[in-house]
Amino acid sequence: MPDISSTVAPPPVIHREDYRPPEWLVPDIALDFALDPAATRVRARLEVQRNGEHAHPLRLDGDGLVPLSVLVDGAPLADSWRLDGGALLIDLPGDTHIVETEVEIAPEANSQLMGLYASGGLLCTQCEAEGFRRITFFPDRPDVLSRYTVRMEADRTRYPILLANGDPVGAGELGDGRHWAEWRDPFLKPCYLFALVAGDLVANRANFTTRSGREVDLAIWVREADLPKTDHAMAALKASMAWDEHVYGREYDLAMFNIVAVSDFNFGAMENKGLNIFNSRYILADPETATDADFDAVAGVVAHEYFHNWSGNRVTCRDWFQLSLKEGFTVFRDQCFSADQGSAAVKRIEDVRCLRAAQFPEDAGPLAHPIRPESYIEISNFYTATVYNKGAEVIRMLRTMLGAERFRQGSDLYFERHDGTAATCEDFVRAMEDASGEDLTDFRRWYSQAGTPRVKASLSHDAPGGRARLELEQTVPATPGQPEKLAMPIPLRIALFGERSGEIFGGEQLVLLDDEKHEILFEGISERPILSINRGFSAPVIVETNRTADDLAFLSAHDDDPFARYEAMQQLMLDTLVARIAHGSADHAPVIQAVRDTLADPALDAAFVAEAVLLPSESFIGDQMPLVDPDAIHRAREALRTDLGRSLLTDWREAYAANAANRYEYSPTAKGARRLRTVSLGYIAASGAADAPALAFDQFGQADNMTDRQGALGVLANSMSPEREKALAAFYERYRGDALVLDKWFTTQALSTRDDTVEQVERLAAHPDFTIANPNRLRSLVGAFAANQRAFHDLAGRGYRFLADMVLRVDRLNPQTAAKLVPPLGRWRRFDATRAARMRAELERVLAAPDLSRDVFEQVSKSLA
Ligand code: PHE
Ligand code: ZN
Repeated sequence: MPDISSTVAPPPVIHREDYRPPEWLVPDIALDFALDPAATRVRARLEVQRNGEHAHPLRLDGDGLVPLSVLVDGAPLADSWRLDGGALLIDLPGDTHIVETEVEIAPEANSQLMGLYASGGLLCTQCEAEGFRRITFFPDRPDVLSRYTVRMEADRTRYPILLANGDPVGAGELGDGRHWAEWRDPFLKPCYLFALVAGDLVANRANFTTRSGREVDLAIWVREADLPKTDHAMAALKASMAWDEHVYGREYDLAMFNIVAVSDFNFGAMENKGLNIFNSRYILADPETATDADFDAVAGVVAHEYFHNWSGNRVTCRDWFQLSLKEGFTVFRDQCFSADQGSAAVKRIEDVRCLRAAQFPEDAGPLAHPIRPESYIEISNFYTATVYNKGAEVIRMLRTMLGAERFRQGSDLYFERHDGTAATCEDFVRAMEDASGEDLTDFRRWYSQAGTPRVKASLSHDAPGGRARLELEQTVPATPGQPEKLAMPIPLRIALFGERSGEIFGGEQLVLLDDEKHEILFEGISERPILSINRGFSAPVIVETNRTADDLAFLSAHDDDPFARYEAMQQLMLDTLVARIAHGSADHAPVIQAVRDTLADPALDAAFVAEAVLLPSESFIGDQMPLVDPDAIHRAREALRTDLGRSLLTDWREAYAANAANRYEYSPTAKGARRLRTVSLGYIAASGAADAPALAFDQFGQADNMTDRQGALGVLANSMSPEREKALAAFYERYRGDALVLDKWFTTQALSTRDDTVEQVERLAAHPDFTIANPNRLRSLVGAFAANQRAFHDLAGRGYRFLADMVLRVDRLNPQTAAKLVPPLGRWRRFDATRAARMRAELERVLAAPDLSRDVFEQVSKSLA
């Protein structure tokens, strides 16, 4: 292995334990931007205040900045400042001073998309987590809260609209075709919430009256051509504002709320105070170009960013180790919002599927970390499924344990106690504890311990005695840096069903498994009981039970908890697939019967049925195996798909016909029908029915909405039929001018189950419309491909080489986005020796590259350790 440590010092590791309060505070800041894509001049005026007794210089973070001037109390102090790394150090005699600096930055040369950058003719900012230091010298940490005044001037023709946080306080003309605007934000905020936007934008405007009667002007700013695609986001914004008042008692607090959509964005969106900036894919939606899933994602992200106004902005994070304080809580809030807007059962299934696809593998691999990490090299690497999605599950467990009412008392206390300050995860738990009177000492382990707990549950029945005994046992696996674990308090919603009567014995129970082992005795169990456990997915754990295929089939038909019902079907499918992979054959009959019954159950809605009859993904099947065999998994899954397709062909055709619509409509019922229709089409195709390609091509051509069109394209993309190429070409021609739709064209091909997918992906990477500079386009091809288990794990290692090449290329432009491509290679321990060696070799090749970013260095070195 190449040794780089002798030539370059490894980047420093930051530890949570080392937190110290800031030495200098900045109660007030005035920024003055002379905007220009090639050379923007930034003048900052900071009121600084010594915090506590010390004689240390003022330290202002900077990244790539050169001070053009430094003034203290109005005077140029020539030798009282110096640069240290990128930071500016200034010796200050007194306790309060005015410090002024001036720098010049080049937004159009900013390919990292952090700080001030250019995107599609706009100028915009992204500061979380540490981008503000790329704009001006400042103590760039979330516990320094300031009042901001922002003045911008720019060319009026190119940048007629000038936006920043808070309220507009002035605007006017300058000579030379330039104009200016000034904004003031009355709320204290950390610099990561600073934002400005300049550009030629138009707004979809609306207003909202808060429950205390405050009038709020709402605006969603986009390029003129995109204006018709903003109504769904606006409706979601209004619904979010009302929901937060109703469910959390939280009102909006400024006279104006602005959202801007941009095409180049590293993440989904950003909650800057009063000026949210969004990846355009989470704002723009109309039936022609966005799927039902896209519509849902738009509403979910709009809500998420809006909810941050309280959980993130009014109460922010003391340091970045506390990231889950705002993100876990806010994801939980947006999940509940979406559940309330549509089908709560389907939303829960989707959220758990997402957790299992993204977070469980993370928790089981070399990058595992607790939701409150202990250390990092680059904080951008910790915007993870663990911090976000497992973080949300931890909040959900608190609500489950305390009940909705005490949970609300806890959140009220939290907001009241910490409003206007930077808080910690501990503060949140203590508020819940104080409001509820519950002792949450052990519960705090969910914040400190990584790894997905495993719960073994075995139920036995003493028929003559009418008793049942449930034995529960938990283990928490070792994770990097945490070889030994303590037992976690695991809230499990449990019910027992009578095998013959189908009745629940004594209702549902909430069991808290807070020891390694726990035993529960049930009396009056007059017939053989069947265990329904972790109902509603009450805890983010893996449950192993001694339930038979018959038990699971029973639950999939009779459980009254929709999630448990779905889960029983999934477990039945998984057990069948794992058996087939292990023994070369398995009895498909129980799965086929269960799917048939589900399709025929008139009490179920189409959206639920579509989720329930889908087979687990190839990656999720792999996660159940000690060593992943991608080809065997693919064969077993395809065999079961084919069998399901053939055995139930009439049922699929009926479902396909029954769920056809005359005209597009956006409603939960119509969405469910579209979903089940395309799932049925997939099974018809899997059956090998001769008319399947024609049927799919018809759906593709006649669709009056993107859900049906892309659904059909996805089915065709897996086929060898001539219709496949015809549809792909037609799709390309129709949407080549629409970047977000063209992303789907790349993704659909990258996810294909065909044998030649690696070659196709390599070819698509050379397509003129492919670019690594746009994160959406990059993810649409490369991210999607890395999630296609069989194609990516091509035995010859072509997929690995392709991904490593991309990591190296992207790292030179955009380290944050490059680092997000690394984790699939880090899973090498889970594969056979040949694949593992090839994956390692690629990681080592990346690590040996000169000038690697801290972002990629951290992910690759940890993946190899
Ligand atoms: N804070 C943003 C969110 O979760 C995510 C984000 C992080 C966006 C870093 C950009 C950069 O809503
Ligand atoms: Zn967030």
